Amino acid sequence: MIRGARILVLGFGNMGQALVKGFIENGIQGGRIHIVDPSENAAKLAKEMGLDYSQTAEGITRPPAMVLLAVKPQIMAEAVKGIKYLASETVCFLSIAAGLNLTNLKAMLGEDARIVRAMPNTPSAIGEGMTVMAHTGNLAFEQMALADTLMDCVGESEWVEDEALMDAVTAVSGSGPAYVFLLMESMMKAGIENGLPEKLALKLAVQTCKGAAALATESGETPDVLRVNVTSKGGTTEAALNTLYAEKFPEAVSKAIENATKRSIELSK
Ligand SMILES: NC(=O)c1ccc[n+]([C@@H]2O[C@H](COP(=O)([O-])OP(=O)(O)OC[C@H]3O[C@@H](n4cnc5c(N)ncnc54)[C@H](OP(=O)(O)O)[C@@H]3O)[C@@H](O)[C@H]2O)c1
Repeated sequence: MIRGARILVLGFGNMGQALVKGFIENGIQGGRIHIVDPSENAAKLAKEMGLDYSQTAEGITRPPAMVLLAVKPQIMAEAVKGIKYLASETVCFLSIAAGLNLTNLKAMLGEDARIVRAMPNTPSAIGEGMTVMAHTGNLAFEQMALADTLMDCVGESEWVEDEALMDAVTAVSGSGPAYVFLLMESMMKAGIENGLPEKLALKLAVQTCKGAAALATESGETPDVLRVNVTSKGGTTEAALNTLYAEKFPEAVSKAIENATKRSIELSK
C-alpha cells in the first residue's frame, strides 16, 4: 500500500535524484513518481528512468500522497507557489531544505498543511544516510509511516518531537560527514609524514573509518566500550589516545558541534 503511494518530487537535482534512485532500488514503483523540475537535465533523466515528468506542477489530476520538496532553500518560497494548490488532508509535504523550519514552510504552504521537515546527510546518495525528521503535529499515522518508508530507502531515519532539536541534529549528522572526512584526511597526512606511500595512507585511513563504523553498528557496543576494548595498557593505541586527550580532541569536537548548532539557529531565523 505504502510502496504504491504516489509521490511528487519538486526539484530533481543532486538530492532529488539520490532519493528517487534509493526509492526505486527499494521497491517504490517508478511509475508512481512524478518529477517537477524545469531543467533539461531533469527532463532527460526522468525519461530515462521511466518517471512521470512535467516542467511545472500545473494541472496534476491525481494528487500525490507525498510531495518531496527538494529545491534549494532560497528558491523554495517561489517554487512551492505552483504546488500549494495540492495541499489537503491527504497530501503530506516532506521538505529536505536545510535551514527552513516548519514555521517557514507553513507560511509557504498554509497553516493547516501537513509537513515533515527532514534533515538528511550526503551518504544518503549511496543508501547510507542518516535522516532526522520533525512534523507539524497534524499528520496521520500513514503519512508518518510513508515518510519513514521513503527516508529508510536511503539509510536510517529517526523522528524528534521537539523541532528545536533539529539544530543539534544538523550539527551532528547533517554536517557530520565533513568531520569524519577531516579525520580521514588528517590520518592520511600523518601516515604520509611517517613514511607511507600516499595511496596506501589513503586506503588505510578510509577503510579504518569504514571498518570502525561497521563494527560500532554491528557489535551493538557503544563507542567508549569499543575504544577501551582496543586499548592495551602501555601499547600503541594508548600512546595515540593519550596525545589526543592531551591535545583536547574531545573538547574540540564538542566546541565544533556547539558552534555548528549556533550557526544553524542563526540561519533559520
Ligand atoms: N546536497 C546535499 O548534500 C544536501 C543535504 C541535505 C539537504 N539538502 C537540501 O536538498 C535540497 C536540494 O539540494 P541539491 O543539492 O539537490 O540542489 P540542486 O542540485 O541544485 O537541485 C535542485 C533542483 O531543483 C531545480 N529547480 C529550480 N527551480 C525549480 C522550480 N521552480 N521547480 C522545480 N525545480 C526547480 C533545479 O534546476 P536548475 O539546476 O535548473 O536550477 C535543480 O535541478 C536543498 O534544499 C538542500 O538544502 C542537500
